[in-house]
Amino acid sequence: MRILVTGSSGQLGSVTVNHLKAFGHEVIGIDIVPHPSTTYLMDIQNAQEMENITMGIDAIVHTAALHGKHYDLNYTRTAFVEVNIKGTLNLLNAAVINGVKKFLYMSTTSIYGTAMTDETQAVWVDETLTEEPRDIYDITKQCCEQLCKDFFAKEKLEATVFRVARFLPETANMAINHRLYRGLDERDGAEAIRLALDHHFKQFEVFNISSGSPFNKEDLSILKHAPLAAIEKYHPEAIAIYQQKGWVFPASIDRVYVSAKAKAIFGYTPKYTFDFLLGQ
Ligand SMILES: NC(=O)c1ccc[n+]([C@@H]2O[C@H](COP(=O)([O-])OP(=O)(O)OC[C@H]3O[C@@H](n4cnc5c(N)ncnc54)[C@H](O)[C@@H]3O)[C@@H](O)[C@H]2O)c1
Repeated sequence: MRILVTGSSGQLGSVTVNHLKAFGHEVIGIDIVPHPSTTYLMDIQNAQEMENITMGIDAIVHTAALHGKHYDLNYTRTAFVEVNIKGTLNLLNAAVINGVKKFLYMSTTSIYGTAMTDETQAVWVDETLTEEPRDIYDITKQCCEQLCKDFFAKEKLEATVFRVARFLPETANMAINHRLYRGLDERDGAEAIRLALDHHFKQFEVFNISSGSPFNKEDLSILKHAPLAAIEKYHPEAIAIYQQKGWVFPASIDRVYVSAKAKAIFGYTPKYTFDFLLGQ
């Protein structure tokens, strides 16, 4: 497949370029900053350039965005709308003009926003939870999801949304704690992208993509107030390993990201789980 990856200098984009190439795909990476995995320096806000670069492309993986870190840096709402919404629309339009078959859009689990707040128990975050955006970042992601849905319905572009979980740089202790309930290893993200590119979606779909969780719905109450009991239930060996590494368990777990739909529909099976990090 000939695949265009936007944001190819970024954390997820660069890993995705290399992963797709390793599986024999021809990959073109575009970004506004240079990186070994980026083929051309291009701004997704430039509609004409997007039209030119998508000629002869089979699938677009769209990761380029302003996101949480830009929100913390006080980027304006206008900047978010221009890059996230206008940039995505440029790519969708270009895909239709050039007969691109597939479009994979990287949204975010943060789109669930305030729906993930419950004083009494952790929230089970699957795709049936109604999103409640908290800020301009979430709002632009929600709008782009709807654009993808609209293009699928009216332009017959096979557009699919991934709500990806958190993969920010963090300490080993924070990373393993997050891998219990809300983390994503970008290598699992890249593999989910590869699998979805190989799958034919008959209808518009949204998928949560995280690196999994050992927990079940019955654990939600205990996760909020005394998560150690639930962790011990599934991973008794974790106590000694945490002690040896000088790690601290989370005092409370407020949510559990669920990727069961991606597993059921295109066989996504994350590898870089809590279990994996424990064994390292
Ligand atoms: N990192 C996370 O924890 C996280 C969580 C949820 C969702 N996401 C989403 O996943 C995607 C990838 O995130 P990431 O952490 O790899 O981001 P990143 O910031 O590492 O990479 C994004 C890339 O997009 C590029 N870019 C920005 N504006 C551009 C433009 N106008 N034209 C072309 N390229 C541009 C940047 O230069 C950067 O290299 C984003 O869409 C983000 O919203 C990330």
